[in-house]
Amino acid sequence: MTAPAWNRKDLLSIQELSANEIKFLLDTATAFKQVGARTIKKVPSLRGKTMVNLFIEPSTRTRSSFELAAKRLSADVINITPTASSIVKGETLKDTALNLQALSADIIVVRHSAAGAPHFLARLLRASIVNAGDGAHEHPTQALLDAFTIREKKGRIKGLKITILGDILYSRVARSNIWLLTKLGAHVTLAGPSTLVPRIFEELGCHVTYDIDEAIRDADVINLLRIQHERQRQTMFPGIGEYTAMFGLNKERFAATKPDSLIMHPGPINRGVEIDSEIADSGRSVILEQVTNGLAVRMAVLFLCSGGRFSAEGAE
Ligand code: CP
Repeated sequence: MTAPAWNRKDLLSIQELSANEIKFLLDTATAFKQVGARTIKKVPSLRGKTMVNLFIEPSTRTRSSFELAAKRLSADVINITPTASSIVKGETLKDTALNLQALSADIIVVRHSAAGAPHFLARLLRASIVNAGDGAHEHPTQALLDAFTIREKKGRIKGLKITILGDILYSRVARSNIWLLTKLGAHVTLAGPSTLVPRIFEELGCHVTYDIDEAIRDADVINLLRIQHERQRQTMFPGIGEYTAMFGLNKERFAATKPDSLIMHPGPINRGVEIDSEIADSGRSVILEQVTNGLAVRMAVLFLCSGGRFSAEGAE
């Protein structure tokens, strides 16, 4: 008997996944994307299950995407907002999570400023834990939706030249993308100010450069990252104006890129800082398609972590 392609109750990181698990998850997301094209965009796969969005850090895309994904799978959804919860009265993450489990939460999607918070909850609880971003560590569903978008647009990931440009050091998106893209055989280049792109990342199989023109010239995909001021503990470059002049994707640099290269950004974008506003809205930008694909990817994650299986008739 062959082992199931997915056998995890939690999604904590891309680092722990095999290339086959990643491909299976992307294939499952492809099936769920078709649900979004129907008149009735809903399937009963998680009927009777409860998903909790436990976001201790702000979010627009990830939180609303998980909520909608769960609703499309017919799950009940609870959103916990720190400022309107007993966290402000001093309740710990452990006690908050145990109380949610006492309410029969089946899946807890957690975003936290502390790296490892989802891993802690996964050890503590019977519920499935999905990492929606933990500090500067990982943001696995972002990397999965980025990969889904690249695969959909380019037909493959293996062999592509993919540049990630910006604040790599403090980026969980960068780390999850690096793990995923190198596992699937892409050539990953990291670029940005030397204070934000340490050479140690070469040990993860990436090429590191501080020459932005070299980084974007031959790239099939350019993934731009914002400066993560909320995680920086010291000034990493002289100022925003200097960053934009040296590393921002402006019209002149854009003109020197491959005419079929994809422009990506996990959001939120800072128009006029890391990306020129017109480039963000151009036909080469897939920024909003990434958001659309995030829904299908998160449906697949919730479905698989809940033990869902596809049969000839569809999702069970
Ligand atoms: N890309 C991303 O994580 O966006 P949010 O912070 O809005 O969820």
